[in-house]
Amino acid sequence: MRSAYTLGIALALAGSSALAADPTNQGNDDWVIMQQRVNASMPPDANPGAFSIDDGKELFLKKGGPKNQDLSQCDFGLGPGVLKGAYAQLPRYFADTGKVQGLEGRLVTCMETLQGYTPDQVREKFLMPMYKTSGEEDGTGSDMVKLATYVAAQSNGDAFKIHLDQPQTQKAYQLGQYMFYHRWGEMDLNCATCHGFNGRTVRGVPLANLLDTHTAGMIATAFPAYVIKDGTMRTQWWRNERCVMAMRLPWIETGSPLDTALTTFLRVQAMKSGEKIDVPGVKPRA
Ligand code: HEC
Repeated sequence: MRSAYTLGIALALAGSSALAADPTNQGNDDWVIMQQRVNASMPPDANPGAFSIDDGKELFLKKGGPKNQDLSQCDFGLGPGVLKGAYAQLPRYFADTGKVQGLEGRLVTCMETLQGYTPDQVREKFLMPMYKTSGEEDGTGSDMVKLATYVAAQSNGDAFKIHLDQPQTQKAYQLGQYMFYHRWGEMDLNCATCHGFNGRTVRGVPLANLLDTHTAGMIATAFPAYVIKDGTMRTQWWRNERCVMAMRLPWIETGSPLDTALTTFLRVQAMKSGEKIDVPGVKPRA
């Protein structure tokens, strides 16, 4: 099945130039055109990532953990059990934990409070399966990604609405912005080196200009996305982490303050575009 989809992409990349004219594109043509062709090659009803929504729902409603509870009463910011539109407003500040949290961070909190898992148990059972280097990667995905996909999809059709009026969220945004521009590590790179300009490529791969709000919007609204190269679903955390690893930096834990800050920065960029959430997206490699 995978090879059929890959062939579809190859044909799409080889053909159609009708998609080239996008009046909303602010100039990052190569990446936008590439992504539009990939999108056109895999309409929603052909996207294998859609199965992750059902798988995630099943996991969400499955009793588990020391308290033998499901996650149905998890509060993502709009009240216990309210999923519709909740993801669109994440990351946000949560008074019960005193932290700004995004989707995965909040799932971790609910696993601990509702299901009774210890932080170590959550790490072992839900986070470690995602923590793989590119050499170890396989196509199996993880429960955490499926859960994230299910919850995110309940905001499909909504635009991101990040609460920068909350001082804590504002602070996370500023930290994320700092992370984006700060040069780190032995290679002295920042995210902006590769993602702060139009028309950059690495080994022929067009790089997304994440400072172009339309591009940032297309990216953030598509994650969690089905990644064709891997034949599985990947989250925005995973994509950021892939680049962090390429920059030879230490691992960013899922749901950690650094992960949340970077996500907040990218979501605010996306919010400026007004682009609507449409999960699962599809990515060639991402
Ligand atoms: C040395 C260049 C380089 C640096 C530095 C870099 N990236 Fe990337 N990034 C890439 C490449 C290459 C891809 C595309 C990978 C692919 O498609 O195979 C990518 C893809 C992405 C994407 C996904 C775009 C899409 O198609 O959906 C995001 C988001 C991203 N990077 C975020 C970041 C962040 C955040 C940082 C800083 C922590 C960063 N990157 C630093 C090279 C870089």
